[in-house]
Amino acid sequence: MKDRFLVTGGAQLRGVVNVSGAKNSVLKLMAAALLAEGRTTLRNCPEILDVPYMKRVLEGLGCQVEINGDTVVIDTPAETSPNADFDAVRKFRASVCVLGPLTARCGRAVVALPGGDAIGSRPLDMHQSGLEKLGATTHIEHGAVVAQASKLRGANISLDFPSVGATENILTAAVLAEGTTVLDNAAREPEIFDLCEMLKQMGAKITGEGTSTITIEGVEKLHPTEHEVIGDRIVAGTWAYAAAMTQGDITVTGIAPRHLHLPLEKLKVAGAHVETYDRGFRVRMDQRPLAVDYQTLPFPGFPTDLQPMAIGISTVAQGTSVITENIFEARFRFVDELMRLGADATIDGHHVVMRGVTGLSSAPVWSSDIRAGAGLVLVALCADGVTEVHDVFHIDRGYPNFVENLQALGATIERVSTTDQF
Ligand code: UD1
Repeated sequence: MKDRFLVTGGAQLRGVVNVSGAKNSVLKLMAAALLAEGRTTLRNCPEILDVPYMKRVLEGLGCQVEINGDTVVIDTPAETSPNADFDAVRKFRASVCVLGPLTARCGRAVVALPGGDAIGSRPLDMHQSGLEKLGATTHIEHGAVVAQASKLRGANISLDFPSVGATENILTAAVLAEGTTVLDNAAREPEIFDLCEMLKQMGAKITGEGTSTITIEGVEKLHPTEHEVIGDRIVAGTWAYAAAMTQGDITVTGIAPRHLHLPLEKLKVAGAHVETYDRGFRVRMDQRPLAVDYQTLPFPGFPTDLQPMAIGISTVAQGTSVITENIFEARFRFVDELMRLGADATIDGHHVVMRGVTGLSSAPVWSSDIRAGAGLVLVALCADGVTEVHDVFHIDRGYPNFVENLQALGATIERVSTTDQF
């Protein structure tokens, strides 16, 4: 059974939408629960498919996991299995975040590699070299990354690139290492800050989180904790761009607007009125958006996960935009789908030139990943007629109640189950 969405274009989205916890935080926080024996409770968890997928990974390692609405409770045993096998991890790439905690806790980790991704290759070399600096040996064997360490020792580590995943795996290993680790060129994403907050509540000694140098003084033992997941800035940003593209007026709550500073600034340049509050923002657009250039960069740069929304708004903007993708090389695949709707685009390496058009018309389109799928829906909302968006299981991995939220904002969209395999 595959679901698709039928999206009718033309509505101006208006209303209030609350975002729940960040996908890119909750999965790492769930993995961090492996670091301490006992019951860890996470609140404000998003109801998305990746959370039960992560539950399965943790259960395979010996934890008991309960999901109850937006609360996830993980009961970690005194000893966990070090093996995260392919069946458990194949559904999603983020499962690799168990590598650091398992190496620290069990002295050994065998984590199957979920393989390629529709947004480009995602090597683990920085994860491996970071763990090696801490005293582990690592290698790839039978499709799994294997890390082994009788004792982890603090070290000075400088990343080639501020990788989010490598920063997380190094952090979650270094918290239980002997001595001090200084991690330079670390990722500064708000989700890293959230992970450090939780690790500190568990007894870890960390300073510098949120900057590019994080210092971790290893401790012998961590204890379980209760933690509230930060709001999802990518979901919030998706609603912000939906307001601007449909010339609507959306207020988003449950998010710190500073986590979306640049995407909101870009919307102002495109002609939107943006107001920010303590825990939210409002985007109102009363004209056709103006063309703006974008380039994706690590935080606080423009997030690669909002690049489909940048391309989406450029599709309908007045003028020509250049969008440069600096993080994932294959993230322009969905532009071909946009062209079916009438987008005018030229791809040149990691740049795409979008000449804004009026008069998009509906066509069947296929989602290739979570964010591209959401981007397609936003553009479909600007097209004449009813657009069929296929393979929406991608969207379900990252956007809780996507259809219901869109309907509440005034969109005409429905979910249809189909047995067609195409
Ligand atoms: C995380 C997010 C993803 C987001 C990305 C960048 C999760 C579950 N996913 O992915 O949504 O788009 O951050 O903000 O949190 N790289 C290497 N070697 C490595 C590690 C990474 O070359 O060992 C490269 C990658 O191929 C990519 C770049 O570094 O080109 C950034 O990747 P990274 O920051 O690690 O992204 P993820 O943690 O995989």
